[in-house]
Amino acid sequence: MEKIAIASDHGGFELKEEIKLFLKELGYEPVDFGTHNNDSVDYPDFGIKVAEAVSNGNIPSGILICGTGIGMSIVVNKFPGVRGALCNDIYTARMSREHNDSNILILGGRVVGKGLAMEMIRIWLTTKFEGGRHQKRLDKIKELEERIRREGI
Ligand code: RB5
Repeated sequence: MEKIAIASDHGGFELKEEIKLFLKELGYEPVDFGTHNNDSVDYPDFGIKVAEAVSNGNIPSGILICGTGIGMSIVVNKFPGVRGALCNDIYTARMSREHNDSNILILGGRVVGKGLAMEMIRIWLTTKFEGGRHQKRLDKIKELEERIRREGI
């Protein structure tokens, strides 16, 4: 069963619990890095766990939810090899796979309803990266990551 890393802060906790059930229905194994209740927490603590698991290759992809999705997206895109996509609709969820090969889907638990979130996840999980001209662009991002690691900013 393919693993998917998942986490949220308090702003995404309830949607995270629904998403875990949906992922299991689709035949995935969600690996839950928290949070585990509605108490107020700091989103970086949870975004970092999922981003690390994807960046080091332990888990191929992830889903993160905070209130708006913005905090989580700022955190995860600091990790090499992570392509986190904050999506609010079906079109961006699909394009983040076709054009950007996104490996972490980020949602705003206070922005999208449950029905839309599940449909976005279904599309995101089943849409393939198109490669071609888009691969060349991802290669440039990889080169940038390597240059920053080597030389700093
Ligand atoms: C928490 O109140 C909220 O700031 C957080 O969930 C998220 O929206 C941050 O970007």
